[in-house]
Amino acid sequence: MARPPIEVENVTKDFGKFKALDDVSLRVPEGNVLGLLGHNGAGKTTLVNILSTLSPPTGGTARIAGYDVVRQSRQVCARIGLTGQFAAVDEQLSGLDNLVLIARLLGAGKRAAKQRAEELLTLFELTEAAKRPARTYSGGMRRRLDLAASLVGHPDVIFLDEPTTGLDPTSRMGLWQIVENLVDDGTTVLLTTQYLDEADRLADSITVLSSGKVVASGTAEELKAEVGQRTATATLADPAEAPRALEALGRAGLSPVHDEQRHAVTAPVNASHELAVVVRALDEAGIEVSGLGLGEPTLDDVYLNLAHHASESAA
Ligand SMILES: Nc1ncnc2c1ncn2[C@@H]1O[C@H](COP(=O)(O)OP(=O)(O)O)[C@@H](O)[C@H]1O
Ligand SMILES: [Mg+2]
Repeated sequence: MARPPIEVENVTKDFGKFKALDDVSLRVPEGNVLGLLGHNGAGKTTLVNILSTLSPPTGGTARIAGYDVVRQSRQVCARIGLTGQFAAVDEQLSGLDNLVLIARLLGAGKRAAKQRAEELLTLFELTEAAKRPARTYSGGMRRRLDLAASLVGHPDVIFLDEPTTGLDPTSRMGLWQIVENLVDDGTTVLLTTQYLDEADRLADSITVLSSGKVVASGTAEELKAEVGQRTATATLADPAEAPRALEALGRAGLSPVHDEQRHAVTAPVNASHELAVVVRALDEAGIEVSGLGLGEPTLDDVYLNLAHHASESAA
């Protein structure tokens, strides 16, 4: 049987005494999208760099299509496309010239290189801007050109490192559509993101990374079910009331957590009538609330909830 396109086993990465990755394992079956979800500094780029042979792991093994990223880096490079923080686009060259150059570097003849470049420019709706220097592109166009550049060599596996961070909502949705088209063509994708909604939309399964460790994995549905289908958030008029608010909601049968940054308490709820339970419990305890909301769980809710469970099981 063919090896899965992406396999990571017990990978660690040390920078001096600092552990950027700690015993990370995951695998991505062919044609699947894995969403690697984590805040800034979680270790996402470090893992992408290891998988794309740019930096060796300190321990453990990583394979692309069965090839070891350290010992068989040449075979690995022939199969991957990388876009992200350090994509290979030359700012001074036009979009067209960038893509032609990459195709030539990958060994295509003049005519074939031009043809591939034009194909990708059409696909990514960059035809009109094809002859302008890349430095004049908007953020969304630049991101599309990065992605096009990574696809020149028809890779089986692509790494998208925070492909939509910093993009406006329209460009973001355009990029999602492009990724979905790639996946329809059978490409295997590892996508890193800080956004639960992005992983939810694109990923078949999600691995949550926190301080270099895998803290959860499953489908978006499974992660949300752990947190609750929705999250009620009560912003406290007086942040010092947080302990009493947690106690009041606990007594009402909810599992609240404290969101210190937002001066709020949040609790997973499974039906909107539970919002009334939140209001009543806080009111009965005489706690003044300056804002109240019901929303989809965010990455922060997932983290808060995981941290909450971890501290409960440690207690
Ligand atoms: N070359 C390096 N030397 C030292 N520390 C590093 C290096 N690269 C990354 N780190 C640290 O490793 C952690 C993970 O970084 P990174 O993988 O870039 O996170 P993410 O991509 O999830 O934001 C961070 O704390 C970062 O400062
Ligand atoms: Mg990063």
